[in-house]
Amino acid sequence: MLRDVPAAMAARMAELEARDAADRTDGTAHLARLRQVPRATGEFLALLCAAAPPGPAIEIGTSAGYSAMWLALACRETKRQLTSYEVLAEKVELARETLRLAEIEDVVEVVHGDFRDDASRWRGVGFCFLDAEKDVYEDCYGLVVDAMASGGLIVADNVISHAAELESFVARVLADERVDALVVPMGKGELVARRR
Ligand SMILES: C[S@@+](CC[C@H](N)C(=O)[O-])C[C@H]1O[C@@H](n2cnc3c(N)ncnc32)[C@H](O)[C@@H]1O
Repeated sequence: MLRDVPAAMAARMAELEARDAADRTDGTAHLARLRQVPRATGEFLALLCAAAPPGPAIEIGTSAGYSAMWLALACRETKRQLTSYEVLAEKVELARETLRLAEIEDVVEVVHGDFRDDASRWRGVGFCFLDAEKDVYEDCYGLVVDAMASGGLIVADNVISHAAELESFVARVLADERVDALVVPMGKGELVARRR
């Protein structure tokens, strides 16, 4: 899976990595920046998603589809679909271009909208990646945790890079008896929770 990233996907990954790096130094406005996960976190997500129990995968916060490509590798491997939510129209357009260029339109669907408005449709979810604005983490977690399959994995990004903003969210998940959870100190800090 990680050893044979298809050439079309590798090319789009490299393009988005370069754009994301430029965004961070060239004064691009916050909402226009890609703000995507580092490559090692993408690989970590793919490994976790590939190890998750059967059931659909969800991503909350698509941006240009960089993390969605890593998750698509795992979804191909485990024969599941990824649905990724994005509120900003410009990002949805970029992400759909990513799906086309990386040749993963058969595995990934990008939904233009707020995950919270569509959460009730989900049951038996095998994997969820939460990477949206920090003020919606608690709402999104509350909605998705009961939609998870037994053994399903929820991963939330930025819990170390945005420790102050996410303090009550992290405390809530670590105290939630429905999951086993811990913070993994890699990348920007990944909270991993497994539904019991
Ligand atoms: C940090 S970026 C996602 C980066 C992406 N996961 C990656 O690594 O390539 C966060 C994105 O979440 C989107 N977003 C924020 N709140 C959302 C919500 N409630 N539902 C869906 N998307 C949301 C933002 O517009 C933004 O593009």
